[in-house]
Amino acid sequence: MEKVKELLESSKQQFIDELLELLRIPSVSADPKYKPEVARAAEFVKQSLINAGADKAEVFPTKGHPIVYGEKIIDEKLPTIVVYGHYDVQPADPINLWSSPPFEPVIKDGKIYARGSCDDKGQVYMHIKAFDLMMKTNTLPCNIKFMIEGEEEVGSNNLGDFVKANKEKLKGNVILISDTSMLANDTPSIDIGLRGLSYVEVEVVGPNRDLHSGVYGGAVANPINILCKMIADMKDENNHITIPGFYDDVQDVSDADRAEMAKAPFNLNDYKKDLEIGDVIGETGYSTLERTSIRPTLDVNGIWGGYIGEGSKTVLPSKANAKISMRLVPNQNSDKVTAMFKSYFESVAPACVKVKVSAHHGGEPVLTPTDSIAFKASSMAMEKTFGKKPIPTRSGGSIPIVALFEKELGLKSVLMGFGLDSDNIHSPDEHYGIFNYLKGIETIPYFFKYFTELSK
Ligand code: BES
Ligand code: MN
Ligand code: MN
Repeated sequence: MEKVKELLESSKQQFIDELLELLRIPSVSADPKYKPEVARAAEFVKQSLINAGADKAEVFPTKGHPIVYGEKIIDEKLPTIVVYGHYDVQPADPINLWSSPPFEPVIKDGKIYARGSCDDKGQVYMHIKAFDLMMKTNTLPCNIKFMIEGEEEVGSNNLGDFVKANKEKLKGNVILISDTSMLANDTPSIDIGLRGLSYVEVEVVGPNRDLHSGVYGGAVANPINILCKMIADMKDENNHITIPGFYDDVQDVSDADRAEMAKAPFNLNDYKKDLEIGDVIGETGYSTLERTSIRPTLDVNGIWGGYIGEGSKTVLPSKANAKISMRLVPNQNSDKVTAMFKSYFESVAPACVKVKVSAHHGGEPVLTPTDSIAFKASSMAMEKTFGKKPIPTRSGGSIPIVALFEKELGLKSVLMGFGLDSDNIHSPDEHYGIFNYLKGIETIPYFFKYFTELSK
């Protein structure tokens, strides 16, 4: 491991430069305009796997964006670690709120600012460089496979088919993922859970055309008013979601586990200060950390309708729309929750409007084991490089494909992420600490070492 550390020390600048090059490719999966750029990012990832020493690396086309697969098999009898990540990124909008252009990375105060720097190009590239270091120092202790997709940010629609069609190719012992965050740079943590997701779009239609709000206002339903009320009614005075049956499958977390979770360092005042909010709000009876991890949510992601141009226009709009997401926890099921939402929303709609609910992609919640070799190896690896035992935490975010890996491949995942919640992923000025990037590259080879040793 000394050799790895020395080579990392002398390769730092090059490793940073290579990541900046990847960050310059605007691989926005959501916007068809960027399709060639997404393909270019896939080629870049493939080439970097080959340069690092993969036996083979290929770009697999899908109905959507391609999947990059690469491997280095040193001995069939040794364990195989499958690294999953994504090279696609969220749209950069609103671009005018960025301090520097999202696809022209800059380094400021020890952080790399660019879309995808943390989520997830920076974290994927740590694995490629860690692999590179293990190859160059002859210390790769087991087999490695990479599956880096280009559609995570749009729901991984085609990865499921790829996984089902390539079960033999993807055979391994564990999935290793760096696409989550830790508590702080001096407080390492490992995620042991992800929330699931139900995502719907609703349309509320009133009169058959936009009307003069003076001539008709007061007598004809305003779909925006109705939609707002319907949304507001979906939470009661305790911020409990009112959809019947919504909590039926929610697994209670034991008092002992809640007490354990409460030990994670968290300062409510700092939290409020960072977000410039006067107070937090959420489900009665749960702490802020619990509200963002072990409890389900319902949030409007976007709402539109009526006149939003310059000045004022007196109009009673014909239509209103909203995009609504629900974060799910074990053992909720996204199809079931989506169906519940739909029938509830339709049933509470007053006769003065027509409503339509359509479902977007979803994903299932997961819990990863803490008594596994893989968890132990990741804990030991982080303890080695951070000098502190990582704290197990549950994350509020979602990586829908993790549940599918378990179902289709029978493989559990380890969520060893190196980002921070404050890295502004999905927001303007996304960044990733150089400390985090290099710490990840340093830690990953230890995971390989300990996992291989513990597997014996
Ligand atoms: N890397 C994130 C998920 C994440 C972020 C997990 C932070 C834990 C901590 C991932 O790229 C993501 O953004 N997932 C989406 C879901 C997807 C279906 C669009 C999410 O959580 O909104
Ligand atoms: Mn991600
Ligand atoms: Mn993301």
